[in-house]
Amino acid sequence: MGKQRVLSGVQPTGNLHLGNYLGAIRNWVEVQREYDNFFCVVDLHAITVPHDPKTLANDTYTIAALYLACGIDLEYSTIFVQSHVTAHSELAWLLNCITPLNWLERMIQFKEKAIKQGENVSVGLLDYPVLMAADILLYDADKVPVGEDQKQHLELTRDIAIRINDKYASKGKTVLKLPDPLIRQEGARVMSLTDGTRKMSKSDPSEMSRINLLDSPDAIEKKIKRCKTDTIKGLTFDDPERPECNNLLGLYAILSGKTKSEVALECQDMGWGQFKPLLAEVAINSLKPIQDKYKEIMDNRDYLDSVLREGRHKAEAVANQTLTRVKNALGYLPPL
Ligand code: AMP
Ligand code: TRP
Repeated sequence: MGKQRVLSGVQPTGNLHLGNYLGAIRNWVEVQREYDNFFCVVDLHAITVPHDPKTLANDTYTIAALYLACGIDLEYSTIFVQSHVTAHSELAWLLNCITPLNWLERMIQFKEKAIKQGENVSVGLLDYPVLMAADILLYDADKVPVGEDQKQHLELTRDIAIRINDKYASKGKTVLKLPDPLIRQEGARVMSLTDGTRKMSKSDPSEMSRINLLDSPDAIEKKIKRCKTDTIKGLTFDDPERPECNNLLGLYAILSGKTKSEVALECQDMGWGQFKPLLAEVAINSLKPIQDKYKEIMDNRDYLDSVLREGRHKAEAVANQTLTRVKNALGYLPPL
């Protein structure tokens, strides 16, 4: 039997932060050998909120280079840009027409983002999860490694696939494969440095709330020095009154490679003044190799272009087949 297929993606909006790395990309890297992987830079998703045309192309390069810098290996994985494979937009349209509006109105991320946007909510923002479903279903993905916040979108993707299969599959067959989320417990929800009850997010207006993968050592040190803590002596996990403490200890554990119980023991008598420099040091040291590799790749644009060109060809070969399968099932006249 061949390997199972994995598909995932990140939007080229702003800088990647530790939440994106620990919740998503690091997990892609860890399991990539076991699967046949497709990782896309989801640039069509990036314009669901107001965007800057001057930076979109470069942000797209940045995310692709960061995939490679974080350890995505082209022997096991294909990296491509979503907008380069036109089947994504086309399948999204077909899925739009079978997706009930009230399924989309229920999406938590839509509600959260819509509140932030105020008057300025586009149809695209509401439709975003259908495009995401198209991304996944085009590749017959078995597994979709994401952070916890994407779980509801994965459920929607399955519901859309089930609906297509129910309505349009011929007896005993399916049109679309049902994917499963792959959500690791640790790192699945990295919280903001300025508020331990909110997730670390690209869209938080405060730079101090997140550590970006490309932050300088000085910036990392400063952000950790100023991050929100509490006045209780001794550091512990899982105290509901101390969300910041739980988050920072969790980050320290993941980045240092120590287990939760090792960290709990190490930090039980510490104060913040002792702990923060330790956390800053592991964060800086973990990101240094990624940053070095990133610079090398960004300096070699021809190489990056060739990676994305080859990625597009491989992705198109798979995606176009699925699109044809769906169009046939819906009864379209094939191109003559
Ligand atoms: P986005 O930044 O929305 O493009 O998210 C890209 C990936 O990072 C998705 O798989 C998210 O689930 C994951 N992710 C984003 N923010 C966090 C966070 N604070 N903690 C864990 N995972 C996250
Ligand atoms: N919605 C995802 C996020 O914001 C990004 C995304 C788009 C995605 N298409 C995808 C993730 C397909 C996994 C699979 O994080």
